[in-house]
Amino acid sequence: MRAVVFEQPGRPHDVVTVRDVPSPAPDQGQVLIRVVARPIQPADFLFIGGRYRIKPAFPQVAGLEGAGTIVSCGSGVTHLKSGERVAFRSPGAWAEFAVAPVSRVYPVPPGISDEAASQFALNPLTAWGLLAECNLPTSSRILITAGRSIVACLLAELARHRGLETTLLVRDGAGYSALDGRNGQVIANGTNVAGTLQNSGRNGCFHAILDSVGGTNSLALIDALEPRGRLISYGILDDSDIVLKASRILYKNMIWQGFGIDGWLDNATQKQLEMAQRELWEILSSNPNLLPVIDRFDLSRIHEAIRATHDARKPGKVLLASNE
Ligand SMILES: NC(=O)c1ccc[n+]([C@@H]2O[C@H](COP(=O)([O-])OP(=O)(O)OC[C@H]3O[C@@H](n4cnc5c(N)ncnc54)[C@H](OP(=O)(O)O)[C@@H]3O)[C@@H](O)[C@H]2O)c1
Repeated sequence: MRAVVFEQPGRPHDVVTVRDVPSPAPDQGQVLIRVVARPIQPADFLFIGGRYRIKPAFPQVAGLEGAGTIVSCGSGVTHLKSGERVAFRSPGAWAEFAVAPVSRVYPVPPGISDEAASQFALNPLTAWGLLAECNLPTSSRILITAGRSIVACLLAELARHRGLETTLLVRDGAGYSALDGRNGQVIANGTNVAGTLQNSGRNGCFHAILDSVGGTNSLALIDALEPRGRLISYGILDDSDIVLKASRILYKNMIWQGFGIDGWLDNATQKQLEMAQRELWEILSSNPNLLPVIDRFDLSRIHEAIRATHDARKPGKVLLASNE
């Protein structure tokens, strides 16, 4: 089968090649999937660079999620069957066939496109898991950084369903803006994160902050929390060092929590997983624009696809699709 392979960690454009490799076989508790669509995510670049929590085993087929049709099931698989359309998360997705453990395979309801389904196993489940961790009552105030990211847009939609008040923090030109999560209207501008939050009139008022950026701006986020608030770090768009006095956290009685989707999925209850799938598929079927697609490329055009991902100037994902 054709696959996008890398033999060493590095910059994606430099280290990936397309070549023929043996098709994988499903082990116990796994299914074999004929893959039709795979998004290119920030996590894929971290994985290829050797900077992700899942480490490559060389030669490694790239890609961490996708959608397709089950071709065969390994022993012990009872609730999935050949021919079923599924979304999945498992290393090796950027290939014609991939295996995935049943715990990371999600049946796709009719009416959901392959393109949307291919993005289900990471960003939508992450947004749902993040709000589950916050466990906030209606009318609580949340702040979401990298506010134009796909996860942020999913979070804002789920938060709206839960009656939460959402503020989105975005980079704008040389500075930052705070947006009202209900309508995207600008509430405040500033040259830096601290100043923007100060100008928003909401500084010190947030019950939870969901941050995918990190870096030194984390200090301004801590200050933006209400006492006893919760800061969840779930991304490393800026992974620079932070210098922090313990008093900054201590005097707030706050919680600073890390979130990784695999750790969350491994510890989620069956009820949570069922609720997450039901609610997310419903939201995605009534609002497919939550998972926009910028462009599509065949696996053989991986280098063009990587370039298109880097050059993207609007929210959305570049897909590696089997039927261009
Ligand atoms: N922990 C987990 O399990 C988990 C799961 C899913 C996603 N994530 C993480 O969540 C983040 C968002 O993912 P996504 O797929 O939604 O991203 P995305 O759609 O590709 O969007 C990335 C956004 O991040 C913004 N950004 C990049 N660098 C930034 C910086 N230094 N400061 C402020 N904003 C910055 C970009 O803003 P501009 O438009 O200004 O460039 C863009 O809007 C990623 O870091 C991803 O790795 C984590």
